[in-house]
Amino acid sequence: MANVLVTGGAGYVGSVCCAELLKLGHAVTVVDDLSTGFKHSVPASAAFFQMDIGDRAAMESMVRGKGFDVVFHFAAKALIAESMTNPGYFFEQNVAAGVTMLEVLRKAGIKKFVFSSSSSVYGIPKKMPIEEDDQKDPINAYGESKLMFERILEWYARAYGWSVIAFRYFNAAGGTDDRGENHDPETHVIPLLLQAAAGERAGFSINGTDYPTPDGTCVRDYVHVLDIAHGHICALKKMDQPGMRPYNIGLGTAYSVRQLCDAVEKELGHKLPISVTARRDGDPPTLCAKPQRIMAELGWKPAHSSLDEIISSAWKWKQKQRKLK
Ligand SMILES: NC(=O)c1ccc[n+]([C@@H]2O[C@H](COP(=O)([O-])OP(=O)(O)OC[C@H]3O[C@@H](n4cnc5c(N)ncnc54)[C@H](O)[C@@H]3O)[C@@H](O)[C@H]2O)c1
Repeated sequence: MANVLVTGGAGYVGSVCCAELLKLGHAVTVVDDLSTGFKHSVPASAAFFQMDIGDRAAMESMVRGKGFDVVFHFAAKALIAESMTNPGYFFEQNVAAGVTMLEVLRKAGIKKFVFSSSSSVYGIPKKMPIEEDDQKDPINAYGESKLMFERILEWYARAYGWSVIAFRYFNAAGGTDDRGENHDPETHVIPLLLQAAAGERAGFSINGTDYPTPDGTCVRDYVHVLDIAHGHICALKKMDQPGMRPYNIGLGTAYSVRQLCDAVEKELGHKLPISVTARRDGDPPTLCAKPQRIMAELGWKPAHSSLDEIISSAWKWKQKQRKLK
């Protein structure tokens, strides 16, 4: 069993991953500053430290004597629009604080590291589906910060013999009984649709219906958060060799915003107030992963990422939250 340090374990993807690790008998310690995460999302049997990963002294004292086998690094600032108006903050949080943390980990002798990267490292792809070796040309500071950190990790692998995996998530989606997607402000399509379904917002707005896609709306690849957690668990068994390996985590099948609206209406059994507005700057028409590398090399296989399961699990979690309020 592994002794895992999870940064950002109070957030959406990190907390689900912690719960799955614990179910399998691994030991989990969470570091999170609760800037966008929630203490109640951290499983009760995980050790929890509320701290900033960029706080060197606190991180050094937390790591001391713990003997972590591997680090899963989810902590990051991830609001793309904010990264365009305040890029300095993103480089400070996602890169500079990250390097401070890497140095603490290196001095503590840790050599296995899994990084939550993003499909936004690719920018506007020249071909579809996207493969790991395709051109990386981010169009927002968030994607740039993820790419920079990947490159820094390549140097840790090269110079210090670290075994590093960078998972480039496409769109994390769906929920479990106890955990789900909850960002403030929310910018992701499925939770926005479900907020409209729950009457928490007046309606849902489709940004652009004139893209070169079958129904004119943007097309994206959605992966259930449990399948992302499973990817991390697959990684645990494949980290004996030094080197840095990037993997797409996506389904290889993508859905349009209009198809998501239809799927949510089907789940609810009624129509939603849906309107159309203009395109947003910088939204590529289609983003779809080619996930063959992670399947072949890590043995990853998505088990929960049908659109029906993604929508129904997210809606079930949302309804449970509303009852608890
Ligand atoms: N959700 C997605 O669709 C998606 C897609 C691609 C990549 N990612 C990446 O996956 C990771 C998790 O995403 P998420 O959706 O769960 O986000 P989230 O905001 O729910 O979780 C991030 C967590 O990190 C914590 N955190 C942020 N900065 C910190 C710091 N300096 N020190 C300590 N803790 C800090 C937050 O409090 C939060 O709990 C992020 O790195 C994100 O960039 C997510």
